[in-house]
Amino acid sequence: MWFKTLLTFVAVQAAAQSNPFRPPGPNDVRSPCPGLNSLANHGEKYTLLGDIKAKNPGFIPHNGRKITVPMVVDAFKEAMNVGADFVTAAGTIALQANPGLFSTSFDLNDVKKHNFPLEHDASLSRQDAFFNRDQSFDNDVWSQTLSHFEGLDTATIQAASDARWARENDSLAINPSVVFGARQLVVSLTETALYLSALGDPVSGAAPVPFIKSFFEQEKLPFDLGWTKPDQETNLATLGAMVSLLQLANPGAVPEGLNLGTGTVRDVFNLIDPVTGKLTTVTCALLGLC
Ligand code: HEM
Repeated sequence: MWFKTLLTFVAVQAAAQSNPFRPPGPNDVRSPCPGLNSLANHGEKYTLLGDIKAKNPGFIPHNGRKITVPMVVDAFKEAMNVGADFVTAAGTIALQANPGLFSTSFDLNDVKKHNFPLEHDASLSRQDAFFNRDQSFDNDVWSQTLSHFEGLDTATIQAASDARWARENDSLAINPSVVFGARQLVVSLTETALYLSALGDPVSGAAPVPFIKSFFEQEKLPFDLGWTKPDQETNLATLGAMVSLLQLANPGAVPEGLNLGTGTVRDVFNLIDPVTGKLTTVTCALLGLC
């Protein structure tokens, strides 16, 4: 037992030292995703020759530019034990947000594009695009989310579900151009499942609240607070199961025709409409029609 604790301590120290946290500088770009931003904030200069990657596995370039799908698949697996099935799908969508034709990489600020097709209203820590297109961390919005964890050391499915649901209701009430249909609901539930899983446990969602605060507020992996990546992988199967639990804990109605679970999460991240089954194409996304 003591040996395992010692090994964990050594692993945490090694990760924290080889990948120190450095906030973005003036020429670095970031996204509306605390997951991608954290990996970049612990990242270093990255060369295509892979020499820095070998020294600094599990992270993406600190400048937030020229990120490929294999790079991000590798990084999330290594840093947070998030599986290739989810990250390949999300990363492929991110490529489409790059304004260049036939791009093989994306910059973190490309994925800010409103409703294209990952970014959405009612975020946990960002204002809706109607109020602020910048999509950086917003303390007022985050305070609303955080208020649902008051008095808790560790997040619960119920508290996280309530926090997400309150943000959805707030946007519906105050944003005259709000878009929040079945696709946005599934993406938003999946994001809640992601932070509960990667910072806590992919089955129970028990993530310590200080870890969650560090991740959202500083976009930092909380090595300094004792966090280590979970032993169990977060993947489409675990996310689908947690998305169902989150929605079950929620008093809100599910849009007609939407069945939540692994298949639905997979569909949405493969750009298939979760209600009609139709594939979202880049053209219809660009025209804002889907
Ligand atoms: C290549 C993989 C990924 C891409 C392209 C991606 C992209 C995005 C984008 C565009 C958003 C903004 C959605 C919005 O408007 O609120 C977002 C939000 C989010 N992402 Fe990621 N993401 C990826 C992987 C991950 C992973 C592995 C985690 C795990 C911890 C994560 C955690 C989150 C969370 C918690 C949010 C919600 C932020 C908020 O509501 O304020 N993401 N992601």
